[in-house]
Amino acid sequence: MRLRPPPPRAVTLPLLAGCLLACCLSCTGTDGSAPADTGAPGVGDRLFPDAGNGGYDVGRYTLDLDYDPASGRLRGTATLTATADQDLERFDLDLAGMEVSRVTVDGATARATRAGTELRISPAHRLRRGARFTTTVAYQGVPRTLTDPDGSHEGWFRTDDGALALGEPVGSMAWFPGDDHPSDKAAFDVTVTVPRGLTAVSGGEPVGTRPAAGGRTSYQWRSTAPMATYLATVAIGHFDVTRSTTPDGLPLYVAVDPRSDDAATAAALARIPEILSWEQGLFGPYPFASAGAVVDHLPKGRVGYALETQTRPVFPGDGPPPAVDQVTLAHELAHQWFGDSVTPSAWQDMWLNEGFATFTEWLWKAREGGPSLDASAAAALADPAAWAFPPASPPDAAAVSAAPAYGRGALVLYELRRTLGAAVFGRLLKQWAAAHRHGNASTADFTAFCARLTSRDLRPLFATWLYGAARPAHL
Ligand code: TRP
Ligand code: ZN
Repeated sequence: MRLRPPPPRAVTLPLLAGCLLACCLSCTGTDGSAPADTGAPGVGDRLFPDAGNGGYDVGRYTLDLDYDPASGRLRGTATLTATADQDLERFDLDLAGMEVSRVTVDGATARATRAGTELRISPAHRLRRGARFTTTVAYQGVPRTLTDPDGSHEGWFRTDDGALALGEPVGSMAWFPGDDHPSDKAAFDVTVTVPRGLTAVSGGEPVGTRPAAGGRTSYQWRSTAPMATYLATVAIGHFDVTRSTTPDGLPLYVAVDPRSDDAATAAALARIPEILSWEQGLFGPYPFASAGAVVDHLPKGRVGYALETQTRPVFPGDGPPPAVDQVTLAHELAHQWFGDSVTPSAWQDMWLNEGFATFTEWLWKAREGGPSLDASAAAALADPAAWAFPPASPPDAAAVSAAPAYGRGALVLYELRRTLGAAVFGRLLKQWAAAHRHGNASTADFTAFCARLTSRDLRPLFATWLYGAARPAHL
């Protein structure tokens, strides 16, 4: 990396040395063309190097969206309040496609250019480290469906009556500009204006609806608890909406596309209060102010997975089979603790999401008279796909949601339970959820946390089940 001379400043020598160091650290580096005080184009995620951005931390996204199902066009204004964690004369947001018509920073028009999925913003005035600043981006276009390195689809999907947004791992950038990495969680205010007769569902709590121009309706949603961008969603279309309250007093908001409604789906959804209450017994208090689900009519071939969007997991389907079953429901609801509240620091820590959610499936099946916990663990041990690589080290971006994160991730927990005993393991689940509630955690955080919970040496367990390449002959 070539060192660039710092901008001339009237500073004393020790200060100048500090500045040189700071400028060097903030260089984007490889081509030497980035000016000092430029926010990095990615947070340095090993699997998704361009995901997220350096130089600032978002506190709140206010998304004002307007969708026309007939043309598929989305018009939006994104307002981001953020704090600079370095001096910034330029910073990036992530945005895939869409046309940007105007960007302002603290009310003044800012210069903006596009480079791949980076929206590069040069504010009229340099931002000082520690400054809180507000960026607005006005944009429009037909949002894209993105194809991930593993061939799966995310981002924005048009449906026959509207649209659906799903963002794991890097799909939120298809429908709003942001810091699209799980390490930067923020509050969200989402308002979606749609033609009369359609409903717009998002995460968090419904604030209300109001009439908009042209006989349309605006739906407003608010997530006060911090949320990673990949967990944001919006579903637009015809929905039957059921609002209720669980016996524990938690508001539920369940939206079902009538075309994906069937007896099995309804029966599974009816168990949400029971599943949540059971999971609270295992993991501690539910971390958010509301819960629910979205069932949307979408060809299975186009999405093919459910997603744990915060407070309101999405289940796409065009049945049969039904869009929702109780095991998948238990999985996505478990993610509300593990993934949504305790969010991975980086994409390589994905097993912290999927391992916990899969282990929850095993517990749920055992409770419901299905295979025992031991039988589920034995099946995961016998599954060659789960042994393609160690769960703690996916080789590349295409491996982010591969079988090791699920089956082997769950086996790590199974082995911890056997080693620690059910009582200590029970405390582990609750305390892990509490220790990083509404935050982020890495694999190293997890192993250190486990070590503090016991006097046993857990290193051999982690060496075999979390990091090891070889499959043990038996459990
Ligand atoms: N998180 C989803 C689930 O298990 C699955 C999934 C969809 C996923 N897209 C992904 C996992 C991308 C990791 C990365 O419920
Ligand atoms: Zn999952």
